[in-house]
Amino acid sequence: MTAPILQIKDLVTHFPIRQGAFGRIRGTVRAVDGVTFEVERGETFGLVGESGCGKSTLGRSILRLIEPTSGSVRFDGQELVGMPPAQMRKLRRRMQLIFQDPYASLNPRMKVREIVGEGLAIHRLASGAERERRVAALLEKMGLGAEAMDRYPHEFSGGQRQRIGIARALAVGPELVIADEPISSLDVSIQAQIVNLMVDLQAELGLTYVFIAHDLKIIEYISTRVAVMYLGRIVELASAAELYRAPKHPYTQALLSIPPENVSASFCPEMFLRPRIPRPAAPSIRAADTRSTAAKPRYRRFTSSMRGGIWHRAS
Ligand SMILES: Nc1ncnc2c1ncn2[C@@H]1O[C@H](COP(=O)(O)OP(=O)(O)O)[C@@H](O)[C@H]1O
Ligand SMILES: [Mg+2]
Repeated sequence: MTAPILQIKDLVTHFPIRQGAFGRIRGTVRAVDGVTFEVERGETFGLVGESGCGKSTLGRSILRLIEPTSGSVRFDGQELVGMPPAQMRKLRRRMQLIFQDPYASLNPRMKVREIVGEGLAIHRLASGAERERRVAALLEKMGLGAEAMDRYPHEFSGGQRQRIGIARALAVGPELVIADEPISSLDVSIQAQIVNLMVDLQAELGLTYVFIAHDLKIIEYISTRVAVMYLGRIVELASAAELYRAPKHPYTQALLSIPPENVSASFCPEMFLRPRIPRPAAPSIRAADTRSTAAKPRYRRFTSSMRGGIWHRAS
């Protein structure tokens, strides 16, 4: 077996809370609070959890678009935390991000040709006619047609824009793609098209995905393994099939017990848990202390299998 493409250990990203005219630090948001997991080459690692639990911060910390506070991120065996900028720039090509909002993430003043070709220029991968050819071929693959090149983002629908966002990410030939809720802002009717496009592209290009979502159905469909994130930590990690068949952590059980139509970006499974959960800025009760009344006996039974904040399953 090949080594994991991504090895994350004890990753922490805290944000200071500043207040007042002098910006004094009054507290800390523990957005990512000690996360450990590995991603195998070619898999789709699903990351699920409610809004505000730290999914985006984790995704960005892995790519060092946000500087982690501490911990380790190894990509293809190389430590990224503390890596000098010049070396980091070279690796960036191999790790790309697909954004949640295809409206905000595409520069409205750039033509699609420039948006998709920018990475090829920055990383000096292709210029002139060769760059044109590659951009056109990629747009074709996204089902957009080369005539899209001379248009601006606002001329496209949400789904088409996300196709442009995917083309931009794939232009530089990445191995790892972190997709941060890539379909959450799209109409339900086109979500499946984008997911299927991503699945096809993965098979064709041998991509590894970290797929972030709050929608459990999509995560189940697309993921090989799933990590459930809660208040900056991973509370359960299992194969997609196992997680859905027999969720072990009360939080996962709460997530799964909610009818899919009630799950949204702002959905709050906290309602199903007692006692009420603290805000991320002041988590006096850790994830392990949360109990749902219904799940109490199971929770006790599995306490011993919880190590480093992760619930390991006996396989
Ligand atoms: N730049 C920042 N400064 C301060 N707090 C932040 C910043 N970015 C995110 N947060 C906070 O960190 C927590 C996790 O946010 P985020 O990673 O966006 O969660 P998710 O993607 O799961 O919705 C939230 O409480 C959010 O308000
Ligand atoms: Mg997010």
